[in-house]
Amino acid sequence: MQREEKVRGPVHDDIISPPRVLQTGDEQRFVILIANAKGGCGKTTLATNLASHLAAQGKAVTLLDLDPLKSATSWLHQREKSGRRDIHGLSLKLDAHTTYGRLTETITHAREYLVIDSPAGLDGPVLDHVMRLTQVVIVPVLPSPIDIRAATRFLQAVMLTPSYRRRPRRLAVIANRTRARTRMYAQLRQFLSSLKIPYLVTLRDTQFYVQAAGEGVGISDLEDPRAGADLDHWKRIIEWLEIQRHLIKAMPGFR
Ligand SMILES: Nc1ncnc2c1ncn2[C@@H]1O[C@H](COP(=O)(O)OP(=O)(O)OP(=O)(O)O)[C@@H](O)[C@H]1O
Ligand SMILES: [Mg+2]
Repeated sequence: MQREEKVRGPVHDDIISPPRVLQTGDEQRFVILIANAKGGCGKTTLATNLASHLAAQGKAVTLLDLDPLKSATSWLHQREKSGRRDIHGLSLKLDAHTTYGRLTETITHAREYLVIDSPAGLDGPVLDHVMRLTQVVIVPVLPSPIDIRAATRFLQAVMLTPSYRRRPRRLAVIANRTRARTRMYAQLRQFLSSLKIPYLVTLRDTQFYVQAAGEGVGISDLEDPRAGADLDHWKRIIEWLEIQRHLIKAMPGFR
């Protein structure tokens, strides 16, 4: 069933229109989009780790896989094979014709925390539709000039979507696969601090993420004491997300 949306007042590019009125069933859902038009920057790694961290805290989590390559779905199957059935999975193969109605229909039964893994190359009207569903966008960025430029373009594309212009979302950047003390890392830090977008954490380049991906778990499930510093990063990410969720909840009727 397609959820209806009421927008009060006209929508102009240069005017932020009033927030939409909530529909029943929408109120509790917190939608986190992991996205960057650039491939291989860690979208699926972030989405799967985020879903497993939230599930480990007892949250009701749905992982929506929008990537036709279905890496997040394979991860979830692997997880289920090992007996973990704590994350609800959904998938939708996005293409240029995917409508907003199709997306809302797909998430009808999504749980309270909806984590969306998106494909590389997300842009145009489909990016706008996905943004319309979303409350928080997390953009992983790798420390390389190509990735920094691609992330800048993607952040601009997000901010130019009609849905963002109607209702700005909370955006955050995460530096991924970094090796401290490299020149590229210094450049990435400079770029991130120049943005007026929160820069959450720096995730280091570690085989724990590769191992966890293969086993259908998050790095916290590996229970390896050497991953302690990496788990601290995740604590920070979850704390920031909870603050955003409370802020959104504290404004009844607004999302
Ligand atoms: N912090 C990290 N440390 C080590 N390896 C990592 C890290 N983050 C991601 N990787 C590895 O990098 C590769 C690409 O990551 P991932 O699949 O998450 O990127 P993606 O943005 O989802 O890619 P795609 O655009 O193809 O969907 C994977 O092999 C993953 O295990
Ligand atoms: Mg991916």
